[in-house]
Amino acid sequence: MGTIRPTNIVVVDDEQYICNIIIEALSSEAHNVVSFCEPAEALAHIENNAVDLVLTDLVMGDYTGVQILETTQKAHKDAIVILMTAHPTVQTAISVLKKGAYDFLVKPFKLDILKAAIERGLEHQRVIRDFVNLQGQVEFLKVANASVAEENMTSFLKLVVESCKKELAAHAVCVTELDPESLDVITEVCDCEKEECLDILTAESSKVPFSERDLRPIIRREQIERDGELVTKVFISQPIVIRGQLHGVIDVLIARRFDELTRGQLDVLTILSNSAASTIANRRLYRELQRSYLEAIRGLANAIEARDKYTAGHTDRVCKLAGLIASELKWDRGRMNNLVMGCTLHDIGKIGVPDSILNKPGPLTDEERYKMQRHPEVGLRIINEIELCRPATPYIMAHHEWYDGSGYPGGLAGENIPVEGRLLAVADTFDAIMSDRPYRKGRSFRTAISELVKYRGTQFDPDIVDTFLEVVRGGKVNFKEMYGHEEDLSQVDELMVIEKVLF
Ligand SMILES: [Fe+2]
Repeated sequence: MGTIRPTNIVVVDDEQYICNIIIEALSSEAHNVVSFCEPAEALAHIENNAVDLVLTDLVMGDYTGVQILETTQKAHKDAIVILMTAHPTVQTAISVLKKGAYDFLVKPFKLDILKAAIERGLEHQRVIRDFVNLQGQVEFLKVANASVAEENMTSFLKLVVESCKKELAAHAVCVTELDPESLDVITEVCDCEKEECLDILTAESSKVPFSERDLRPIIRREQIERDGELVTKVFISQPIVIRGQLHGVIDVLIARRFDELTRGQLDVLTILSNSAASTIANRRLYRELQRSYLEAIRGLANAIEARDKYTAGHTDRVCKLAGLIASELKWDRGRMNNLVMGCTLHDIGKIGVPDSILNKPGPLTDEERYKMQRHPEVGLRIINEIELCRPATPYIMAHHEWYDGSGYPGGLAGENIPVEGRLLAVADTFDAIMSDRPYRKGRSFRTAISELVKYRGTQFDPDIVDTFLEVVRGGKVNFKEMYGHEEDLSQVDELMVIEKVLF
């Protein structure tokens, strides 16, 4: 891998003819070569320009090649310095090599030897630069692979941002996941050194809206003044592409004294965007697979509902109510996906309950109740066979646990009950009270709310009940659509006063 610009070589020798010979010798190569007979001018140039390799005489009047070496090392951490001298001693050679010079040439030298030394030096530089990039990549890929199984896309994008910042020494990075159809932003993670860097990055990025982007990277450079110094501002926008479609963008802002962005660093950005693309694609495939499983299982859940004529529509309504509570609690997208699965499957174990019990119009006997109460465990056994349905586990196993520990099947209490189960218990019970049951007609909204309030802290997690009441009071439940009629929401406040519930 070469650099994205020609190699910048500086030649320093107080004898003009040496400079001329070297420039002549390197003229056929793809290098930018500048030469200086005045070491002071060379030092100023090295401090203020991009430099990859320096060839310097060792003794030049008041100056020495060691000064050139030290200045170069300070300004350019991976630049190569080759020293030349007509008066070699072993001691001098050892001394300059110890200080970090790459090579030591004895004048007069054949031009082939000079060229070979330069090529060796540049190759060494490439290996070092690539190695640094590779180290970062190995680290990134290790973490990225570990996170593929995670539902939370934000934590993965944070990794991409961190890697970009580190590998490119960037001042601001934004990684955006887009919906490939609408180009709406799904997830965005940004990090920056200073707020103003993010403003600049956002302004640069908005110059080309997502809808107008093609699938090639955008690179813009501009000279700006920062803290009294001229620096190059580099904006890079690397698209995240999956099967020819834009699925996201990595925007990077770098401000440097020298525009020394290497091809290796740009390759890092390409690798990161490819890695982001494959992770996004994998997760989408995973979700699609999960969705098709869910569809199949939803069919099964519908079949159970069809057996139980009293619970028609119960699953859908419970999913809606639980989803409203979870939104109020600001659950992320991954948890919301799991919630849909969990709510759909929560009563899947009723497949093992005989019709005669499911549809019994009167109270259940102890034996019948025992069979009915085994449905969480039966459900768990069913989904345990299906890897993709595992996220439904806490919903299935814990939706009949009571907050005070007197529920089933585990008799868990308080925080020991997974929050998924505590949340579903509220939605499930509310809908069960409102719906017709085999042994009674559906009861009123007032009854359903007062039951939740009454058993707040015994059967139900008080915080979840409060959240649900907030959802209801906020008019977020569409009672007309779900139960066929509007409800008087002022009853909620009234019941809270009666039951002395204080927020
Ligand atoms: Fe249940």
